[in-house]
Amino acid sequence: ARYFALIPAAGVGARMAAGGPKQYLPLGGKPMLRHALDAFLGSALVAHTYVVVSPEDGQIDAVVPAHGVTVLRCGGATRMDSVLNALRALAGAMREGDWILVHDAARPGLTPALIEKLIAGVGADPVGGLLALPVVDTVKRVAPGGVATVARDGLWLAQTPQMFRYGLLSEALGAAPDANAITDDASAVEALGLAPKLVEGHPRNLKVTLPADVRIAEMYLAHGQ
Ligand code: C5P
Repeated sequence: ARYFALIPAAGVGARMAAGGPKQYLPLGGKPMLRHALDAFLGSALVAHTYVVVSPEDGQIDAVVPAHGVTVLRCGGATRMDSVLNALRALAGAMREGDWILVHDAARPGLTPALIEKLIAGVGADPVGGLLALPVVDTVKRVAPGGVATVARDGLWLAQTPQMFRYGLLSEALGAAPDANAITDDASAVEALGLAPKLVEGHPRNLKVTLPADVRIAEMYLAHGQ
């Protein structure tokens, strides 16, 4: 099988209040997005890496390395639109059975070892899968009627990469009714009645969302793998 990486990086980073797209924030000496690119470039299993940015993006060319990465300027209004636009742009280059590893630019702590753990864990699964972490906190659901404690058995926090075959991922995202409700690729696949495989990820693969997350990510990056 062939493995490709696809990084949606067309977000505006509204929650970071950083004054620009958060994937370009400097982190441990390089722009945040470059860490994820380097993780994929560092894995011999990944044939090629694609990054999808908004058509107005003026910074991406300074961030991508000279070889191994192709920039697609077809980002959309939502993460789901960005991924779907990229898949459609790649139609001529992909086979139905190729694996696509979709990874958020906002997760700079990814490593080649985690990529390879996911690929090995999913193996020849007919659906695909994702990195995820078991929930360790006690979980509360707050609703107008009161507060309830949700049993945490079986609860996981989804990370990325999430890997699905080109054909299935295109079908799932194309069939999703509400792009805003789809915050990851696996949920679109689940909506088809399929069960992705969860492979245990690592806390270092956190999503940088709030300003304080930058410090945590830098701590992990400073500690290597
Ligand atoms: O905003 P959030 O952190 O959920 O974004 C997750 C990922 O999706 C980021 O890498 C972001 O750049 C990407 N994204 C995108 N197109 C959008 C919105 C977000 O590629 N319209």
